[in-house]
Amino acid sequence: MLKDLAKKSRSYRGYDESRKITREELLEFVDCARYAPSSVNGQPFQYVLAYEPEMLQKIQPLTGWARALPELCLPFPGKCPTAFIVIVQNTDWDADLKRYLKDVGIVAQTMLLAAAEKDLGGIMIGNFSPEKIAEALELPENLVPMLIVAFGKPDEQIVIKEIDEGESIRYYRDANNVHYVPKRKLKDIVV
Ligand SMILES: Cc1cc2nc3c(=O)[nH]c(=O)nc-3n(C[C@H](O)[C@H](O)[C@H](O)COP(=O)(O)O)c2cc1C
Repeated sequence: MLKDLAKKSRSYRGYDESRKITREELLEFVDCARYAPSSVNGQPFQYVLAYEPEMLQKIQPLTGWARALPELCLPFPGKCPTAFIVIVQNTDWDADLKRYLKDVGIVAQTMLLAAAEKDLGGIMIGNFSPEKIAEALELPENLVPMLIVAFGKPDEQIVIKEIDEGESIRYYRDANNVHYVPKRKLKDIVV
């Protein structure tokens, strides 16, 4: 089952905007994330929940999508995520912003797996300016944005492509907007 969830949990860049995400759903994702491992159990993160239109409209334009497909402006109009969780580090709890760079990925993936279990989806967004997000959300100085996770009801098709060594790892789309994600084969990643 976990493998099925891991396969289902793709990075979606198109959502059904009519499916809103509730605060309770986001709280449940964060509640899963708080059980994640953390370096020396530091747990320096807090979570800004964005699910109301005004908040979404502040965050969406500050996020960068699909850098490998510069010819497309994703998400397409009307296909935006209906929630974001901005993972922030509370520097009063730990001011070292480098120490927890691995931890942030673990909490983000935990939340995405929780979303996949509910037939929702999302994507991690690292392409943003922490300063601009902090300003837009009027965050206090001790809360530093580390990673953004978008959520929604996926509304696009993603296909995993098993690739051989030497083949391109670059993701791509066909004329029908089907998104292909190349993944290296098991035999090629075990040393
Ligand atoms: C830490 C991290 C940051 C990411 N940031 C972005 C981003 O800013 N914009 C984006 O479109 N995708 C972003 N992605 C998604 C990756 O492009 C995606 O994981 C990759 O293409 C593989 O697709 P998959 O997640 O469906 O396997 C990010 C992924 C990770 C792990």
